[in-house]
Amino acid sequence: MKQKQTGIFVCMVIAASCFQYCAKNADTVAVKTGTTQATTNTAATGPQLPATVYNYAGIVVPAYILAALTANDNTPSANPVTNDGATLGRVLFYDKNLSRNNTVSCGSCHKQDLSFSDSAVKSKGFLGGSTDRHSMRLLNVRYYKSGKMFWDERAATLEDQVLQPIQNTTEMGMTLPELVTKISALNYYPVLFQKAFGSTEISSDKISRALAQFVRSIVTYQSKYDLVKQGMAGFTADERDGETLFLTAGNITCAGCHTPPMFLTSSPTAPFALNDPNDLGINNQRRFKSGSLRNIAAVGPYFHNGSISSLQNMLASNIPQHGVAVRDQQKLLAFLNTLTDNTSISDVKYSDPFR
Ligand code: HEC
Ligand code: HEC
Repeated sequence: MKQKQTGIFVCMVIAASCFQYCAKNADTVAVKTGTTQATTNTAATGPQLPATVYNYAGIVVPAYILAALTANDNTPSANPVTNDGATLGRVLFYDKNLSRNNTVSCGSCHKQDLSFSDSAVKSKGFLGGSTDRHSMRLLNVRYYKSGKMFWDERAATLEDQVLQPIQNTTEMGMTLPELVTKISALNYYPVLFQKAFGSTEISSDKISRALAQFVRSIVTYQSKYDLVKQGMAGFTADERDGETLFLTAGNITCAGCHTPPMFLTSSPTAPFALNDPNDLGINNQRRFKSGSLRNIAAVGPYFHNGSISSLQNMLASNIPQHGVAVRDQQKLLAFLNTLTDNTSISDVKYSDPFR
């Protein structure tokens, strides 16, 4: 019985991968022959969604996080996270139909198991071209108080940001009218828009709001650090010394720019000088945003250009504020490791529903 089931499963996997392969080839042909029109992947099968929606709106973070961060939440009153809105956002996030030739989704460059970032220094867009900067982790984005997005903060809000990769000529290559036409032609969307926004009508504004809701729902609060802060676990000696260094060492401490509990502040100080003549960041002032340092040890490379391959290399470097004495490196590393939360990044509610 068990063997038979396995057999059926294997056949299904083979059939599914052939299907994917064929679909992919068809797309490639369309691009090679110079099709300028965005074509909907009519062979697309719909997403697998749960009968009862997952909980995105009512995530209960520990009290010490809530106390520190309620005032930092960048959720606009016009776009609160709802379970149906974030569900639609999840489907859009993983739908390759958002790219011109149906090859790339948001999830291609923001991979769940990599804390919604990419292990590549630069990610590949829909025609194989490279992004200008390293992909960013999408954790605790809602707690970046100013709400400004990208390494250089060029997007004023998350709602503005999420439409930019779709229109970026390297990343997804669409126009907003093409996007709306394409999404409207897919049979699984009307019901999802109906549930999320009370109408089957599809617009780029609703697409933006749903994507922003999904991204805001991604929060991490189940690391060893969190257990320690709630008195449910203890630091090792190195971890504890590392925390003390993080909070107190240097003229401006690590915590001054990466403030607990989300290891995030939204006022990047100037000048922040990782020497990069090709990229001067915010207002060309050698300033850059840093995202939440949670899960930082779980995925590299690091910095806006992905030039730092490991945390060890960063701590041993001469980058201002980031290179530290040899005797402190191991301790800081031990502490940074306690920020890893594997629960959130393996939670099915954030996973690809098209798999
Ligand atoms: C081809 C790769 C690629 C694709 C596709 C892509 N991104 Fe990104 N994403 C990046 C890169 C690279 C950056 C940093 C770019 C910069 O700062 O100039 C980024 C930055 C972001 C940020 C900013 C995070 C912060 O803290 O400031 C958000 C949010 C984001 N992406 C969401 C999305 C969403 C939603 C989609 C799909 C609509 C998407 N991305 C598609 C590569 C990609
Ligand atoms: C003056 C503010 C400031 C101080 C102090 C500071 N950082 Fe940073 N940190 C930043 C900024 C800004 C970035 C992103 C810079 C970039 O990409 O060019 C960053 C990047 C990082 C990164 C890589 C993040 C990523 O997403 O790739 C790590 C890890 C890090 N810092 C840890 C530390 C540690 C540990 C300390 C203390 C030893 C520290 N920082 C001190 C501002 C600061």
